[in-house]
Amino acid sequence: MIKVESLEKIYPGRKGQAAVKAVDRISFEVQEGELLGFLGPNGAGKTTTVKMLCGLIRPNSGRIFINGIDLIQRRIAALQEVSAVLEGNRNIYWRLTAQENLEFFAAIRGLKPSGISSDIDYYLELFNLTEKRNVEARKLSRGMQQKLAIAVALISQSKVVLLDEPTLGLDVQASYEIRQLLKGNVKEQGRTVILTTHDMNVVQDTCQRVIIVNEGRIAANDSVDNLMDLFKVKVYRINVQGGLTAEQREALLGMEEAVIEEETSARTSISVRLEESQVLYRVIGILESGQSLIESIDQEQNNFERVFLQILEGGPQGA
Ligand SMILES: Nc1ncnc2c1ncn2[C@@H]1O[C@H](COP(=O)(O)OP(=O)(O)OP(=O)(O)O)[C@@H](O)[C@H]1O
Ligand SMILES: [Mg+2]
Repeated sequence: MIKVESLEKIYPGRKGQAAVKAVDRISFEVQEGELLGFLGPNGAGKTTTVKMLCGLIRPNSGRIFINGIDLIQRRIAALQEVSAVLEGNRNIYWRLTAQENLEFFAAIRGLKPSGISSDIDYYLELFNLTEKRNVEARKLSRGMQQKLAIAVALISQSKVVLLDEPTLGLDVQASYEIRQLLKGNVKEQGRTVILTTHDMNVVQDTCQRVIIVNEGRIAANDSVDNLMDLFKVKVYRINVQGGLTAEQREALLGMEEAVIEEETSARTSISVRLEESQVLYRVIGILESGQSLIESIDQEQNNFERVFLQILEGGPQGA
């Protein structure tokens, strides 16, 4: 449904500043019905990529196909199938009510008001906005505005939905609701979704596959499950009684694979990334040298946040 070939964006430098290569010849594809997470640290090029995919900015080079249509050569036709919510909620009109926003955007997409009134009711209900249907968007809470912005993107029935940080700044409840919505409704309808986020709960919860970008380049492109597997059984947590001696602390701090997670007079907790068993022997040796009493050694629950950080550091994935 989406195909990106060697996409590049360079922002020209202004006032003597250097130009910024925000996106550095990336290529990827997204299949129909897929929900792809687009992750990366601040400034990695996520928003820039999304803006190119929805035709807001032109790439310096590379190609984008939406449903087989070349976005640069046949912009209008390609964008027929795309709706987007960019950083926050700027795709709604402040002065229109929730319902009017939905009507307006359905209308400009060429949907007939008679046919869409039930759709509008459906989305208002789905996003818990029914009570607020006659309230101007600017008077809604931030979370409600965000939900309305997503509803506006969905009502167009476009095949491709681009969501830039859909849960940014939302409370736990609103974030949860949006995740449920993405998992349920959006999936059922077979939409193809790219979402950018810094929230690893969103990733673990909703995305089948993730692309991790760093400095404009793709650092990983795989399913969440595979990436989690890749880093599995690799982190152990060792708890010892009491604190560490100065020598032990120094030795552990000198090991890249070991992190002192917590140290109090009662207990010290060390996590060890196990790339080879030698590493564990060394840590145990260090602990033994100070006669520390080991209370427990547990395999740490893997979470996607750690996987993400390791990939950015150039972990086993090898980028
Ligand atoms: N309009 C612009 N003019 C010049 N440089 C820009 C512009 N927009 C973004 N950049 C630069 O391009 C790079 C990528 O920015 P982008 O907004 O795409 O990152 P991002 O991955 O969305 O980051 P974040 O997680 O902070 O939202 C950054 O170095 C940024 O400073
Ligand atoms: Mg961004």
